Amino acid sequence: MKQPTSVIRVLELTEPQRHDVFATAVVEGLSKPRKTLPCQFLYDAHGSALFEQITELPEYYPTRTEIGILREQAAEITASVPDDAVLVEFGSGSSIKTELLLQHLPPTVAYVPIDVSPSALSEARQRLAHRFPKLHVYPITGSFTDSVELPAHFHQRPRVGFFPGSTIGNWTAEDAVCLLASFRGVLNENGRLIVGVDLKKDARTLVRAYNDSAGITAAFNLNLLVRINRELGSAIDISSFRHEVIYDPLRGRIEMHLVSVIEQTVLICGRRFHLRAGESIHTENSYKYTVAEFQDLARQAGWSTGRVWTDDGAQFSIHEMTARSNA
Ligand code: AVJ
Repeated sequence: MKQPTSVIRVLELTEPQRHDVFATAVVEGLSKPRKTLPCQFLYDAHGSALFEQITELPEYYPTRTEIGILREQAAEITASVPDDAVLVEFGSGSSIKTELLLQHLPPTVAYVPIDVSPSALSEARQRLAHRFPKLHVYPITGSFTDSVELPAHFHQRPRVGFFPGSTIGNWTAEDAVCLLASFRGVLNENGRLIVGVDLKKDARTLVRAYNDSAGITAAFNLNLLVRINRELGSAIDISSFRHEVIYDPLRGRIEMHLVSVIEQTVLICGRRFHLRAGESIHTENSYKYTVAEFQDLARQAGWSTGRVWTDDGAQFSIHEMTARSNA
């Protein structure tokens, strides 16, 4: 398929650059007194495939619950989207959830999916071209955490952001405010935003969602070590680590850890990192909110809160917000 001239590349790193970014982050994270590895590195090709499997697990309720809300409420959710709007999705992946919104939107809207994965973008574009032949799709390859410029021909059109999946849960509240404020910058004074947010609930349900009986989430977490072995030439014994999940009710967050079962020293990029038996490497946070807590956070980021949709079990929420002009 011919590449439209409007495809914008915000940030496409070369292979050696990506290797360096990963190596630097791993060394930095493991040098801390409390060892960490940044969660964005969970999503290499194998990690992304494992995450797809996670979304289909019986214990992992967020994806199917959010899709259920979108299915049932799409007409309502899209009611305030102007006919000439530009729909900007932050971290669009497969764009599956977006289809549920696009079904209710006129072909006069334009769709700007932003994602780090060029292959996910081109697959999504081909599927959407088939399903919505008149829809204008302008993919942007890059990280939505970098500053994003929309093409000039969109400058006069109203913008609506879409940020599903409770991806916002990966950021601390403070960083989430910064991210939502940066979206407000991309979407302008009259912008709107539709955000999916996982809700606080009993610890048992939360922990099970991240510690499934089939061990898929464990494999997803341990894949970070597989990746270090493959990409950084290490020889870490994967079986000397176990997947651990904690819900911290005070912080309102799920934590994923890789716990060293034994005392050991691992060699990465010519450096030695010592781990005590039982010592953990913190790999991911997934913050959970009440509706009111998330609204408060959105207001701090310059958004006015609008309607909120949840499922009957109040497991997941979808928030509509509009940019506050005085922010
Ligand atoms: C993609 C960040 C929304 O936090 O639920 C799922 C990632 N990690 N299982 C989440 C994840 C382990 C997921 N997010």
